[in-house]
Amino acid sequence: MTTLLVDQDLCTRCGICSAVCAMGVIDPADENTLPKVRETKAGMCILCGHCEAHCPTQALIVNDRPDEKVRLPIGAGTIPLDDMGYYLRKRRSVRHYTQDPVPKEKILDLLDIARYAASGGNGQPVEWIVVHDKKKVHRIAELTIEWMKTLVNSDHPMSGYVPGLIGAWESGYDVICRCAPHLLVATIPEGNPIAVTDGIIAMTHVDIAAPAYGIGTCWAGFIAMATWSSEPLQQELGIPAGRKMSYAMMFGHPQYKIYGLPRRKPLHVTWK
Ligand SMILES: Cc1cc2nc3c(=O)[nH]c(=O)nc-3n(C[C@H](O)[C@H](O)[C@H](O)COP(=O)(O)O)c2cc1C
Repeated sequence: MTTLLVDQDLCTRCGICSAVCAMGVIDPADENTLPKVRETKAGMCILCGHCEAHCPTQALIVNDRPDEKVRLPIGAGTIPLDDMGYYLRKRRSVRHYTQDPVPKEKILDLLDIARYAASGGNGQPVEWIVVHDKKKVHRIAELTIEWMKTLVNSDHPMSGYVPGLIGAWESGYDVICRCAPHLLVATIPEGNPIAVTDGIIAMTHVDIAAPAYGIGTCWAGFIAMATWSSEPLQQELGIPAGRKMSYAMMFGHPQYKIYGLPRRKPLHVTWK
């Protein structure tokens, strides 16, 4: 059952923990009591941690892995507006990679960031498969081409598109994985409609954080489409029973740098 561990010397009884509680389960402190989770509502707590994250004196902690609590250094995570605008606008899909591998520790650091992505009801349903061996990445591209071959002369919407990709592959161009050294796959539980969005949000966190680690990424749409229906691909990737692929992303060290911004469609906003 969720409870709050409150340091009575630090708690100023400001009421913020109660005000920010996503599920309204915290009774604020009064003169004689400290803030607490109302027992009858404790089962509703989604362990989002907003109570402890917002506490100005860091006086409280939820009884969920309390030893892992992180207090933010003053000013941490503040990015100047100009830098943030350039950083996000500068993100590009990377289709040319050097062949030096990204160390596993660096990949773990990057994926750790995605643990903090939003998820419906704080369900945190996303798990990762990292294909670190580039020979295995190539095999997955090969199986994707095999799947594409089954679409030729079918009524699949991609049937007219795949012969060009198959032809390019057979001429020696990796149009599927772009010779990326690594592939990242997000998996989600089957039959959980909210997790479909959670998977994309988590993968987007990885996509956006990657350049800060010197890592380039590209969403791997062909692999995702193929894996959703190809059992050989699901087996090769080792998608666990009861889970399915949310999406896939190739990654590695970018071969080229970015010096400018491409044009994009004008902003389209309707105000009501
Ligand atoms: C869902 C999704 C699937 C994609 N699949 C592929 C793919 O299979 N191969 C590829 O080279 N690029 C793929 N891309 C990259 C897009 O082509 C790219 O995002 C778009 O051209 C805009 O370029 P930018 O990402 O550099 O802004 C995909 C992007 C998204 C969002």
